[in-house]
Amino acid sequence: MADDLQISIGTKQEMYETIMPQIKALTEGEPDLIANLANITGALKEQFGWFWVGFYLVKNNELVLGPFQGPVACTRIQKGRGVCGSSWQQAQTLIVPDVTKFPGHIACSSLSVSEIVVPIIRNNEVIAVLDVDSEKPALFDETDKKYLEEIIAGILF
Ligand code: SME
Repeated sequence: MADDLQISIGTKQEMYETIMPQIKALTEGEPDLIANLANITGALKEQFGWFWVGFYLVKNNELVLGPFQGPVACTRIQKGRGVCGSSWQQAQTLIVPDVTKFPGHIACSSLSVSEIVVPIIRNNEVIAVLDVDSEKPALFDETDKKYLEEIIAGILF
């Protein structure tokens, strides 16, 4: 399984429909959180070719960089700061079509133009966020929100 990821070249929805069962197969039965988060970022990066995809985990009341695919990134983000810290504070998914217009956006890379951040909520608390960045404007929409939230819901923490 791990070496034969099937990649789809259809619509965004078809791409998610192709990758979702593979993510499930890769992670189910594996209890190690970091291994699962790492494989999720790998599968998403391979399928979509996004500029950056990764997790930040809440540790001691700040977001700390977790498994990711893409260029090196900011290590720590405070609550309420940037898109990630805002998604954490608001406990909701944020879609940002143009990061230059988002007050307090943290530019880990100047190449990043649009972004989606999905909080991972367990027992009414945000315990991590999934962050995806693109160098294309307005890449993310409700379809990404729907599928990424579904992926997030399947992760055992
Ligand atoms: N742009 C994010 C910071 C994380 S990086 O993009 C990987 C933000 O504003 O929270």
